[in-house]
Amino acid sequence: MRILSVVGARPQFVKLAPIAQAMKGRADHVIVHTGQHYDALMSDVFFEDLGIAEPDFNLGVGSGKHGHQTGAMLSGLEEIFEQVRPDWVLVYGDTNSTLAAALAAVKMHIPLAHLEAGLRSFNRRMPEEHNRVLTDHAADLLLAPTEVAVDHLKTEGLAARTVLVGDVMTDVLFKTRDLVKGRTETLPLGMDAGNYYVSTIHRPDNTDDPDRLKQILRSLAELDKPVVLLAHPRLSDVAARHGFDLETGAIRVSDPLAYPQLVNAVMNSAGVITDSGGLQKEAFLLRVPCTTIRPETEWVETVELGWNVLVSDNLSALTAAVQRATPQPTEESPYGTGKAAAAVVSALAGPR
Ligand code: UD1
Repeated sequence: MRILSVVGARPQFVKLAPIAQAMKGRADHVIVHTGQHYDALMSDVFFEDLGIAEPDFNLGVGSGKHGHQTGAMLSGLEEIFEQVRPDWVLVYGDTNSTLAAALAAVKMHIPLAHLEAGLRSFNRRMPEEHNRVLTDHAADLLLAPTEVAVDHLKTEGLAARTVLVGDVMTDVLFKTRDLVKGRTETLPLGMDAGNYYVSTIHRPDNTDDPDRLKQILRSLAELDKPVVLLAHPRLSDVAARHGFDLETGAIRVSDPLAYPQLVNAVMNSAGVITDSGGLQKEAFLLRVPCTTIRPETEWVETVELGWNVLVSDNLSALTAAVQRATPQPTEESPYGTGKAAAAVVSALAGPR
């Protein structure tokens, strides 16, 4: 069985790690990197730290408007698929790389499997929402991470193609957590354990309106503990363009962290403030309170179980939300137990 994985953006490299490991001895695994993320800290460090083999192909597409970026990937992927002729194309999550690979595969009649299928924000302003809905409806095999995702797929008439496999991010997170626990990892910017927050802000809805961004930064600056702001290139770019100083009040700016350092930083923090999907879930799995600057989340379980609070329109509520009392402990595991990657390979190998 030959499986071709297409990845391009930071969270996809993280999800690729346990899949690549589970494929060993069970499938011929070809990795294609679209080049959507290309900075060393956004890409290379993930392959190195998570022990993923160098991609077999790298399209080097880089940044651009949605149409330009997705189109360049589509055309590059078509040629690679012709050459490799995989039994399955496997796509991850909801990025432009995912949509491009999905389109290329279905046009060439190559079976398509979608990992992280069925997530919905129901917010059509998000490019990720279009990407995931279109990919789910194009795919032959829908690998759902949660019961809630399975329900969404059922509602959309896609139950027959759906398999609940769990969340591969749990696999890699638990493994990395255990690894960093066993060694002395320094905290970012010399922070003291338990006495700082970790923050990431990168969604266009939060960064592209200077007034909104200013308000978010003002709230972070007023928090009661230092805030390690891991600056995505888009955030640094917008701040430079508008002449904002990111490092005001409690905020301390850091480059994005490699995965083991990120896990260690979150594990030892007093809380996370983010608009990232993955980080909300990572905070929950590490039982660190999270505040999400978005009107909704795909990871509804984190909110229902009390570990995530959403703040969007009323940004003045952000400080109180972040400084809230510690949530009630929970033993629930809506994201699986860390064995999802093996279930993915079995689903791909199973009868169709
Ligand atoms: C993409 C995904 C998003 C995911 C995120 C993870 C889409 C539509 N969005 O968003 O779902 O949560 O990745 O980080 O696919 N840039 C660099 N260096 C890089 C990469 C990006 O400088 O290595 C800058 C460029 O200015 C670029 C901007 O960041 O224009 C945005 O990058 P892009 O890949 O378009 O989207 P993300 O915001 O990273």
